[in-house]
Amino acid sequence: MRERAEPKESIEVATSAKVLSDPAMQFVSDVRAGLCRPGQKELPSKYLYDALGFALFEAISLLPEYGLTRADERLLRRHAEEIVRHVPGPTLVAELGSGSGRKTRWILTALCQREPVSYYPVEISRAALASCESELSDIESVSIVGVEREYLDGLREVAAQRPDGMRLLVMFLGSTIGNFDAGADARFLREVRSVLALGDSLLLGTDLLKPVERMLEAYDDRLGVTAAFNRNLLGRMNRELDSDFDLRQFEHVARFNQAACSIEMHLRSKTRQVVSVRRGGFAVTFAAGETIWTESSHKYTRHEIANLAVSSGFRTEAQWLDDEWPFAENLLRAV
Ligand code: AVJ
Repeated sequence: MRERAEPKESIEVATSAKVLSDPAMQFVSDVRAGLCRPGQKELPSKYLYDALGFALFEAISLLPEYGLTRADERLLRRHAEEIVRHVPGPTLVAELGSGSGRKTRWILTALCQREPVSYYPVEISRAALASCESELSDIESVSIVGVEREYLDGLREVAAQRPDGMRLLVMFLGSTIGNFDAGADARFLREVRSVLALGDSLLLGTDLLKPVERMLEAYDDRLGVTAAFNRNLLGRMNRELDSDFDLRQFEHVARFNQAACSIEMHLRSKTRQVVSVRRGGFAVTFAAGETIWTESSHKYTRHEIANLAVSSGFRTEAQWLDDEWPFAENLLRAV
C-alpha cells in the first residue's frame, strides 16, 4: 500500500494526471497559490512536516510550555482499557496522522488483549511513518500496514479492504483537527463519517481553550524550537523548490485570533525583500512586516465538540478530560 514515488527529474514534462499524483508538483502549486495570492500570504500547515520538521515537532512535544502531546498521551495511557471497552469489535484500526506512534501504543496494547489487531497508520510524512512502524513493531498480535497517503484517500483505502463483519476504529489524535479552518473541521468529519459504516468509532483528540498567556507560551517557547519548526518551512522550500529564502530575514510570530479561537503561527518578513522560487519559475515580493500564515490551531470548548460531533453524523459515546492541561479525548460513534 505504501507508495514510494521516485523524485521527478523534470517538472516541465509532467502531464496533468501526474501533476495531481506527484507530491513535489503539488507542493510547487500550493506554494504558488499561497504566496502569489492577493492579501494574506499563506501556506498549508501540512508542509511543516518534512523529516526535519517532524523531528522538530517531536522536540516541541517535550517542551515544558507545550503540554498538548503529553496530555493526549496521558489520557490514552490512563484510560486505554476503558476506551477500548467502548469500541465494538472485532475492529480494524486506522490512524490519521500517526506521528511517532508513541501515543497509540496504549490503545493497541489494550485492544490486542481481546483480538489480533490490524493497524493502518495513514501519514503523508514518510519520516513519521517509519518512526511509527519501528516504535510499535514490538507489540505482539498487532500487524502494522503503513499507508502513505492523504488522510481521506488513505482512510478510503483501508475501508475498502475491510472484511465483512469487521468494524472500524479511526483515531485522529493530537488535536490535528484544530489545524483545519473554521467550518473545515466539520466538513472533514463529515467526509470521515461518509467512509464509515453505522456503529464504527472515531477517537478524536481535541485541545481545549485555556488562558491566552498559556496558549501563547506553548506556541512561542523560550528555547525557540517552535520558531525553528516554523522557519523550517522556508528551509524546506529552499531544499525542495530551489528557492532562496534567507531564514534570518523572517521571524516566528504566534498570535491568538480571538474571533477564530485559534493560535496562529506566522513568518514575518523583517524587511522588504524579493524571493525567487526557481522550481516554480516565479518570484514573491514581501513588504517589511508582511507575514506568511503557516498554521492555525483551533482551541475547542466542550460544548463546541458536542456540536461538531452531532453535526457530522456522530454521537458522543464517552469523553475523557485531562486536568493538568485542558484536553479532551472524545469517543464518537457513527450514527
Ligand atoms: C501537531 C497539529 C497538534 O497545532 O499544536 C505545535 C502542531 N504547531 N506547535 C498544534 C504545532 C506548533 C500541533 N499539532
